[in-house]
Amino acid sequence: MTDTARTAKLTIDGKTLDLPIHSPSVGPDVLDIRKLYAQAGVFTYDPGFTSTASCDSTITYIDGDMGELLYRGYSIDDLADKSNFVEVCYLLLNGELPTKDELEEFTERVTRHTMVHEQMLHFFRGFRRDAHPMAIICGVMGAMSSFYHDSTDITDPVQREIASIRMIAKIPTITAMAFKYSVGQPFMYPLNDLDYASNFLQMCFAVPAEPYVVNPILSKAMDRIFTLHADHEQNASTSTVRLAGSSGANPFACIAAGIACLWGPAHGGANEACLSMLREIGTVDRIPEFVARAKDKSDPFRLMGFGHRVYKNFDPRATVMKESADEVLSLMGIKNNPTLQVAKELERIALEDEYFIEKKLYPNVDFYSGIILDAMGFPTSMFTPIFALSRTVGWIAQWREMITDPGLKIGRPRQLYQGHTRRDFVGLDKR
Ligand code: CMC
Repeated sequence: MTDTARTAKLTIDGKTLDLPIHSPSVGPDVLDIRKLYAQAGVFTYDPGFTSTASCDSTITYIDGDMGELLYRGYSIDDLADKSNFVEVCYLLLNGELPTKDELEEFTERVTRHTMVHEQMLHFFRGFRRDAHPMAIICGVMGAMSSFYHDSTDITDPVQREIASIRMIAKIPTITAMAFKYSVGQPFMYPLNDLDYASNFLQMCFAVPAEPYVVNPILSKAMDRIFTLHADHEQNASTSTVRLAGSSGANPFACIAAGIACLWGPAHGGANEACLSMLREIGTVDRIPEFVARAKDKSDPFRLMGFGHRVYKNFDPRATVMKESADEVLSLMGIKNNPTLQVAKELERIALEDEYFIEKKLYPNVDFYSGIILDAMGFPTSMFTPIFALSRTVGWIAQWREMITDPGLKIGRPRQLYQGHTRRDFVGLDKR
């Protein structure tokens, strides 16, 4: 953390405090209020963390006004174009791009851990056939802490490393198993001569009865979806992982907490909600009705796949994703299906509409990822699990950064209490 000589002055009831100002390597300055309560006896109030930095980090940088996303300083466009997901995993975890030998060794380690303990299959059978795959992967990820006791000691760097590799390697297998379970097909074991994305597609779409060849265009699109979702600084699920981890919880439990948070429709659940919305709209002539609803303050409806807390210009992930969508749709020969027509028209209208322009609401990554995943043959219920698969490495990198921070403290926000002051208990006979 860089301290500047500058301070901000805060005067409360005639008493003036100097609050240190920290300068980041890039981005807005940060006021340090850690001593505020001790010195002035007041808390700050920021329920949605709209003006609050919860930690310092060197992993991911977002400039919402410029529409810029950097992993360890490298732009998401460069990484999506010139790198691949496994290399991005190494970068996020270790801070630097790997050499050829380092990449080979890392890839080999991840590949060797792709199978899950055979006994884990019993967990899957305990879920109802129609269970949402997010419920399954959240449960199974948490349950990994009951299988891999040799990698739950968070104070041991070797155990932390093993747990990280295990989760990155096994999450595609677990996600594909959740899918196979929901469609009633046999689980497919990983094939370790395939790359990470192809292996995932194979585990989802192959069946033992016939050979399956992974299409390289689909595999590249899948790899890009993983890369684009790999990390996104202190979003809700990442903050959840950090908060869970700050108490010293084991890594599998922390990542399960992140999966639970990601499920919500305002976060990772938006890609599923977006495609369901496009289908509900159904035909282009119904779009104005839904746009009117999105603008109506008395209607809770929002256009899913639009808007972002941080990006107020455009979502750079959406630009790359749109390119991939065009490639995949043309490969699958999908030109004019009704959902796609609705998506294209909705995008056009929203980008020209005063309400969306004024509020800076642009299509986000989830708007296009749902269209690609649908074209690939995934049901909507698999969209958020695929986001969780991709984000697992980001959660792990952020958790590791936190665990190794010498200043680590348990996360414990305060509150603006608005309830009753102390009052006398009233016995049941008097109520
Ligand atoms: N449709 C219609 N109006 C919207 C939308 C939308 N999708 N998003 C925001 N607004 C309006 C909102 O009503 C508010 O209007 P007003 O100022 O008049 O009260 C204004 O825009 C600001 O909205 P906000 O809720 O204060 O903004 P936020 O930063 O808290 O919310 C968001 C960000 C992503 C939760 C929100 O834009 C949203 O709900 N979008 C739809 C869900 C979605 O696509 N989420 C995926 C995000 S990208 C993937 C990820 O990171 O998980």
